[in-house]
Amino acid sequence: MRQNLRTMGDTNGTTIERVGVVGCGLMGSGIAEVCARAGLDVIVREVNEAAAEAGRARLVKSLDRGVSAGKLNDVERDAAVGRLAFTTDLADFADRQLVVEAVVEDEAMKVDIFRELDRHVTADGAILASNTSSIPIMKLGTATARPEQVIGIHFFNPVPVLRLVELVTSLMTSDVTLLRSTTFATDVLHKRVIRSKDRAGFVVNALLIPYLLSAIRMMESGFASADDIDTGMVEGCSHPMGPLRLTDLIGLDTTLAVSQSLYEEFKEPLYAPPPLLSRMVDAGLLGRKTSRGFYEYQR
Ligand code: 3HC
Repeated sequence: MRQNLRTMGDTNGTTIERVGVVGCGLMGSGIAEVCARAGLDVIVREVNEAAAEAGRARLVKSLDRGVSAGKLNDVERDAAVGRLAFTTDLADFADRQLVVEAVVEDEAMKVDIFRELDRHVTADGAILASNTSSIPIMKLGTATARPEQVIGIHFFNPVPVLRLVELVTSLMTSDVTLLRSTTFATDVLHKRVIRSKDRAGFVVNALLIPYLLSAIRMMESGFASADDIDTGMVEGCSHPMGPLRLTDLIGLDTTLAVSQSLYEEFKEPLYAPPPLLSRMVDAGLLGRKTSRGFYEYQR
């Protein structure tokens, strides 16, 4: 069956050329960037003009970084910027063939967005995807009248640098949606795809989050300093960054939300958020995005 579909090329008569991204935070801006760099027409939706402007600035800064790193040239950067449009209105997504939702890890908010997308996105066979780290795809699918066209396409931060994409099918996602999403991630974005069942955390976060929480517990109990914990994993295990610095990169709010989803799903103590993580989120110490988490950062 899958092979037959593949030989038919993309179904619904079109390959994906028009993409919508909901949310232009850390992940949404990265997803919009890689889509624009791949030559796609991208519309990004933010809640208001100020958030859209901040998202655009983040995205352009990352493209500039790509230029200085020699990953693309000035002409390619300008072409990518030219393929990006910003809106505050989901009605502008009517002709999108793929929409990737990348707002904060809040189930009620995501469900509302999927309800809205179902109303506004009218292109034939359009795929509605979520970049959620942990929220069941089935819950998002049932917010629409087309659960067979709903899938998880989960990217990793920083999106322009990390090659992995997790594809998560719910009980209702169709083979066509999976095939089109796979082709999109591999052939268009040149990402490496792994598959996961629709369980909180999918593959990577189900493994990564307990590790990050253990590092926070270790620091909280006075077992070792943040610097020593991070140095241990960088120098002792050759990780690109230590667990506390990585939590700052991911965002403490996101780490907390994913750990809560994991704990709710599996009720395993290893997923329970340590009090220090909750208190830091209460205090607004969210990591790099607020310039302070386990470490301090220059704006
Ligand atoms: N566009 C294109 N390329 C870029 C770029 C950009 N905007 N920014 C950097 N690069 C390239 C650099 O040129 C360099 O390429 P090279 O290896 O060919 O020279 C490479 O990316 C690394 O960049 P830097 O040298 O500037 O930075 P570092 O070497 O310090 O690496 C890092 C920074 C990529 C963040 C690295 O520390 C890392 O990979 N850390 C781990 C990140 C991680 O684990 N992320 C997953 C988080 S979990 C998640 O996202 C899931 C969510 O659901 C929670």
